Amino acid sequence: MAMCQLVEKSMSSDQLFDVSDEIVLITGVSGQLGSEYAKALLQRGASVVGLDLQSSEEINRLSASFPKHFFFYEADVTDKSSLESVRIEVEKKIGTPTVLINNAALDSPPTAPLQENGPFESYPEASWDTIMDVNLKGVFHCCQVFGGAMTEQSYGSIINIASIYGLVSPDQSLYGYRRQRGEVFYKPVAYAVSKSGILNLTRYLAVYWAQNGIRVNTLTLAGVWNNQDQDFLNAYCGRIPVGRMANGDDYNGAVIFLASQASRYMTGANLIVDGGWTAI
Ligand SMILES: NC(=O)c1ccc[n+]([C@@H]2O[C@H](COP(=O)([O-])OP(=O)(O)OC[C@H]3O[C@@H](n4cnc5c(N)ncnc54)[C@H](O)[C@@H]3O)[C@@H](O)[C@H]2O)c1
Repeated sequence: MAMCQLVEKSMSSDQLFDVSDEIVLITGVSGQLGSEYAKALLQRGASVVGLDLQSSEEINRLSASFPKHFFFYEADVTDKSSLESVRIEVEKKIGTPTVLINNAALDSPPTAPLQENGPFESYPEASWDTIMDVNLKGVFHCCQVFGGAMTEQSYGSIINIASIYGLVSPDQSLYGYRRQRGEVFYKPVAYAVSKSGILNLTRYLAVYWAQNGIRVNTLTLAGVWNNQDQDFLNAYCGRIPVGRMANGDDYNGAVIFLASQASRYMTGANLIVDGGWTAI
């Protein structure tokens, strides 16, 4: 709350990283990281359009703290018509987004039904379809609708959020402690495959829109601390070179970089911010 009460418009002192003229659309804004990005961008003077299936307490706080620069819309990234309605309303209200952060995604939480975290051989087809719909088709839809709008102004930066599990396989040994206590538990397949799909969707669009002033990059992240149990933390922190999970705000610098002119010559790239996970 205290963070949200900072001045409503404060430009970066370094013009290279200035985002104060940007209109940033963030999908999955009500989640842990989406709301961090929104806050960091708003504090630097950007206008932010947040989109999610539902609002949250943090979103209500941002709406109250930044009434002229933060706009929330309920929309489903798997439903292209709901995105087109948002596009029309946003264009009327503040203009065409100049930055799109494709952040909405589904993972399989530790508490997911048994089958979802069971062996690969019986991973449910319905779970595969649901994850692919949100994590991959949702990004495809948002790029069509909001990226398409950006081409009309020949200006924009698209940031597609991926994961270390889209670059390398989940390390199943991390979850060995659960199997030792009698659970059947594997990190499932669909999330990892969906995130690797992001990498080439990014490259495809970066090339396709290279002459239209639209930059498209992937931002690959490692795990974020969110009250995980101690056994998991011991395994994870023992595996990651920096020895800790990310804090919720550890990725803000990369987001500001990709949203601003500091990254103006960068497209089709994958910026990996992972505490060294993929260096091993
Ligand atoms: N948290 C991590 O440890 C971690 C690690 C690597 C990558 N990531 C990536 O970062 C991004 C954000 O992760 P997070 O931890 O904040 O997740 P989160 O679950 O806290 O937030 C995701 C948000 O997406 C929204 N959402 C889900 N389906 C939607 C749909 N159909 N339409 C619109 N919104 C929808 C959810 O309501 C939720 O608010 C994801 O792309 C995730 O894969 C996260």
